[in-house]
Amino acid sequence: MKKITISQIKAAKGNRKLVMITAYDALFAKLFDEQVDMILVGDSLNMIFAGRPDTLSATMDQMIYHTQAVCAGAKKSFIVFDMPYGSYIDKSTALQNAIRVYKETQADAVKLEGGKEKAPVISHLVQNGIAVMGHIGLMPQHVRAEGGYKVKADEQKLVEDAKALEAAGVFAIVLEGVKADIAGTITQAVSVPVIGIGAGKDVDGQVLVWSDMLGFFEDFTPKFVRRYLDGAKLVKEAVENYAKDVQNGDFPSQKESY
Ligand code: KIV
Repeated sequence: MKKITISQIKAAKGNRKLVMITAYDALFAKLFDEQVDMILVGDSLNMIFAGRPDTLSATMDQMIYHTQAVCAGAKKSFIVFDMPYGSYIDKSTALQNAIRVYKETQADAVKLEGGKEKAPVISHLVQNGIAVMGHIGLMPQHVRAEGGYKVKADEQKLVEDAKALEAAGVFAIVLEGVKADIAGTITQAVSVPVIGIGAGKDVDGQVLVWSDMLGFFEDFTPKFVRRYLDGAKLVKEAVENYAKDVQNGDFPSQKESY
């Protein structure tokens, strides 16, 4: 299995849709690897994996640990490290942290949230040999400042942000929580692939959080998520059966004993 390259990802625009999914560990990364182009070690792991209320308390150490695990499991996919809140506040902090990512993990690129105000940071990273994926629209790291997760519809600002990111050298852009028609306009406005999440179908690819699309996260299902498995139900049923078998003395059987 050959690893997908950044040139193949860029060349996909207009030719085929790109598939990205999050993963936080080697086990699931290995399961997803053959089917997807890119695996995002999203800072959403702070909510899904660590049970925190938002992504803001994710740390570099935590993200590096999970990225090392994902890289151990996935051999073919292009792996993107999500820079946690506070790790790219200025050019030198961002570069120091991004260099750490390349030195301590096998991640292929980093992702950071922000529009044209982040362009100087992004070009500094790119000039120093770091591949950067942008992230505009709904930015989860802004949740406290904005008082919630708000769908975006300011077309002019979003197009300007996307163009500024493209000029700064990103190889792709995640576009989150944007009205579908506006997402289509943004996708047409730039030459790099736009990967949507809650941004309709007129984009160059899609990303979903694995636990949402596999039905492991039960609290609520955002409108943009399609559930491909009832993971939580299946796990609960299986563990219920295991508990019953242990309690009844049905497990282990003779065949399952030494
Ligand atoms: O952290 C994450 O999982 C993300 C996706 C929602 C794109 O940034």
